[in-house]
Amino acid sequence: MSGIDRRTFLTVLAAASAGVGIGVPLISGIGGSSSTGTALRSQLALPEPFTVPFTVPPVLTSSDGDHYEIVQRAATVEILPGVPTPIWGYNGIFPGPTIVSRSNRPTVVHHHNALPVPVVAHLHGGHTPAASDGYPTDLILPAGSMPDMPGMPGMRTMADPRATVTVGERTYTYPLRQRAATLWYHDHRMGFTGASVWRGLAGFHLVHDDEEDALPLPRGDRDLPLMIADRAFATDGSLCYPSVDPTLQHTPGVDTPYSGGVLGDVILVNGKPWPLASIPAVRHRLRILNASNARRYRLALDPPPPGGGGLVQIGSDGGLLDRPRAHDAIEIAPAERFDVVVDFGRYPVGSRVTLVNRFGSGSTAVVMRFHVTRREHDDTRVPTTLSTTPPLDPARAVATRTLLFSDHGSGAMGWQINGRAFSPGYAAATPRLGTTEVWRLISDFHHPIHLHLVQFQVLSRGLSGPGEYDAGRKDTLDLRPAEEAAVVTRFDDYPGRFVFHCHNLEHEDMAMMANFETT
Ligand code: C2O
Ligand code: CU
Ligand code: CU
Repeated sequence: MSGIDRRTFLTVLAAASAGVGIGVPLISGIGGSSSTGTALRSQLALPEPFTVPFTVPPVLTSSDGDHYEIVQRAATVEILPGVPTPIWGYNGIFPGPTIVSRSNRPTVVHHHNALPVPVVAHLHGGHTPAASDGYPTDLILPAGSMPDMPGMPGMRTMADPRATVTVGERTYTYPLRQRAATLWYHDHRMGFTGASVWRGLAGFHLVHDDEEDALPLPRGDRDLPLMIADRAFATDGSLCYPSVDPTLQHTPGVDTPYSGGVLGDVILVNGKPWPLASIPAVRHRLRILNASNARRYRLALDPPPPGGGGLVQIGSDGGLLDRPRAHDAIEIAPAERFDVVVDFGRYPVGSRVTLVNRFGSGSTAVVMRFHVTRREHDDTRVPTTLSTTPPLDPARAVATRTLLFSDHGSGAMGWQINGRAFSPGYAAATPRLGTTEVWRLISDFHHPIHLHLVQFQVLSRGLSGPGEYDAGRKDTLDLRPAEEAAVVTRFDDYPGRFVFHCHNLEHEDMAMMANFETT
C-alpha cells in the first residue's frame, strides 16, 4: 500500500462504514448508481442528436498581451435550435471565452460583475496565491451595491472576517508557475456555485509550455476543447435548476429531492446539445472537461476503431502524462479533465463516430458525433515519452491526514468532511509550505474530491494501486462509493487559506468543503 499503514486504513474504513451507513442508496435518476443525484426532465421538445453543429468557444483576446477583461452578465442565447435561453455568462456566452496563457507568465484577469448577485471567479487547477484563488467569501458584489446595506445579497458571508469583498470588479492575478494543462474557470460563491455554474459561469483556461510545444501533437483546429455538461430546460426555454431561492440571493441549496446532485437530460458539448463535428481523417487532440454539476460519464467511441484503444490519453488535470495510455473508455467525474488523442485516420472517410456515455441511458447515453469527411495530410504523432516530470515521493511525506466525506442528513449543511460542515473560520489541515503530505480520502457515495492550489498524484485505491484513470498529476479525484484512496502532494509557494471540497456542486454548496491553511 505504498507507505500507508494497512491496518490503520482498515480500521478507519470500518469506522466510516459503521458511522455513515454505507450502502444506503441515494435517490438515483437516469444513470443508475454511476452518479449520485437526481435527474430533471426537460419540458420541451428536444432536438435530434447530431443535428446542431459543434463549435469551439472563442479565444479571449487582450489589449496588452497578458491582461484580460471579462464582464459577467446576463444574456439570451440559442442552445436548443430556435429556442431563446437566458443564461449568465462570462462576456455573456456559455461556455465563457477561452483564456490561453503561457506557463510562468502571469495572466491578469479583470472581472466585472454586471449580474444581480455576488460572484467569485476561481481558476480550477491553477497554482494561485490565496488572494486571487477565488475563496468562496471573497465576493465581487454587483456593480453599484453598497456593501454595508443590511440584507444585501451575500451579507450572510460577511460573518467571515477574513473575506475580501469588492464592489463591481476585481483583478485576479495568476502567476501560472505550473506545467501546460487544461484548466477551467468557474463561479465559486459560497452556497451558490451549483446554480451559478448551471446558468453558464464556466470557461476554459489553457496553459501552454515549451515541453508540450516540442511534441508533435495535434494543434490549431485539431486541438479541440470539449466542455461536457448536462442541463435541463423548462417550457419557456430557460434552464431549470431546483434552487431553494431562485433569485440566488439569500438561501443556498436545492430542493431536498435533489440534494444528492442535479442531473440534466440534455448533454451539451461547448454549449451545444449533442453536436456534430465534421472533421478530417487525422489525429485530433480532445481536451475533455466534465463541467457537469453531478453527472459522471463513461465515454467511449462507437464504433471503436479497428483494434480498439481509440482514446489515447496524453494528459490529465495537471498536464501531460509521462507516457500515453490507450483506453477503450474513460470514466470522468465532475471537474476532471482528460486530454486524449483520437486518430480519426483509423476510420474510413464517411464514418460517423459517436462519443457515447456508457453510464447514461436514453438521451444521456450519447454525447456528440464526429463525421469523418475527408483525408488530409497528418504529420502529428503521439510520442512514447510525453513528459519527464519526476513523480512525487510518498516516502517524503511529513504528515498523513484522513478525510471522510459523508452524508449527515438532508438540509443546507448535509454533506460534511470529518463530520463538519464548511465554515470559513475552521482549517481542517495546516500543511507547512514546502512539505509533502499524504491525504487519505474516504467516501460514502460518489464524491469527486478537489484540492485547490496543488496537483496531486494518486497512490492507491482501496488495497490496490491507482485506478485506470488516475494517471498523471490530478487536482480532482473520482472517489467512488465506500472507497478509500490515498494521494500525495506537495504544498508549495503560497501561504494562506485555500479550500478543498467535493466537486459535486450540490454537495459543495451544501457544505462538503473545508479549508486548508498553508503556513
Ligand atoms: Cu472547480 Cu473549488 O473548484
Ligand atoms: Cu479549484
Ligand atoms: Cu460529494
